[in-house]
Amino acid sequence: MLIQLEKINKIFYSKNYKNAFWILHDINLKIDKGEFIAITGPSGSGKTTLMNIIGLLDRPTNGSLKIDNQEILLSMPEKKLTEIRSQKIGFIFQSFNLLPKLTSLENVLLPTVYTKSDQKEKQKLAQFILSRLGLSERINHKPPVLSGGEKQRVAIARALINDPEIILADEPTGNLDSQTGQQIIDLLKKLNKEGRTVIIVTHNQAIANESDRVISLLDGKIVNDNKNIQFPKELLKETNSNPPYDVIEPLDSKKEMNI
Ligand SMILES: Nc1ncnc2c1ncn2[C@@H]1O[C@H](COP(=O)(O)OP(=O)(O)OP(=O)(O)O)[C@@H](O)[C@H]1O
Ligand SMILES: [Mg+2]
Repeated sequence: MLIQLEKINKIFYSKNYKNAFWILHDINLKIDKGEFIAITGPSGSGKTTLMNIIGLLDRPTNGSLKIDNQEILLSMPEKKLTEIRSQKIGFIFQSFNLLPKLTSLENVLLPTVYTKSDQKEKQKLAQFILSRLGLSERINHKPPVLSGGEKQRVAIARALINDPEIILADEPTGNLDSQTGQQIIDLLKKLNKEGRTVIIVTHNQAIANESDRVISLLDGKIVNDNKNIQFPKELLKETNSNPPYDVIEPLDSKKEMNI
């Protein structure tokens, strides 16, 4: 088990503690290494809060969280959480969150500040990742002159620089046109095929359909957790009108009774 949440609650209290707002309610969730998961749900259902808790950017009010079998204690200091996060988790945001005054290369190198690493090696690695993502011509450019898709690829490079096992993406295509968005999803899928666990928050049904598992949130609770059955695209194309599996008709109880 790579990620395990048990009875995770996030509660906000009004002044004087008169009212409590349950943003996440008794969330139980187990995620295995290598999964490709979509989290969906209406605005305000708690998706970002859940991602931020898994990504150690936010703390639950109570409950248990384990990342890679390590218990994340509520009492852990911020420094310790940052250390675990920078080793194990790469975060991608809807609004890219790049620093506008730094170049692509400098933005990608930001998470290495928290790790004990050889900066020269990391610089080489950052250049390699940026070029692998098709950005070799954009290494010394700053975010304001980059397109949306380029910015998100810089953000993905930044998420990859410490070689994390887990990639969390909160609506990564929300600010992109559909074609650029699809390229970003294809890239995340490729990273998943290489063994990384990918969790994407999305409002986009097509992206949810492409993932292995869809978790739906409503009012801070998991209301659905379904594994998608995936068929290779080629197979679906070949068979066209006939699906490559047996269609099981739902049992019609009235018909049964008439027999
Ligand atoms: N600091 C806070 N104080 C009080 N309420 C908060 C705070 N942060 C978030 N909330 C509330 O928690 C609920 C869940 O917010 P969250 O951002 O997780 O939703 P979401 O599912 O990501 O929504 P969206 O699809 O709009 O991004 C919302 O009702 C929000 O108003
Ligand atoms: Mg959100």
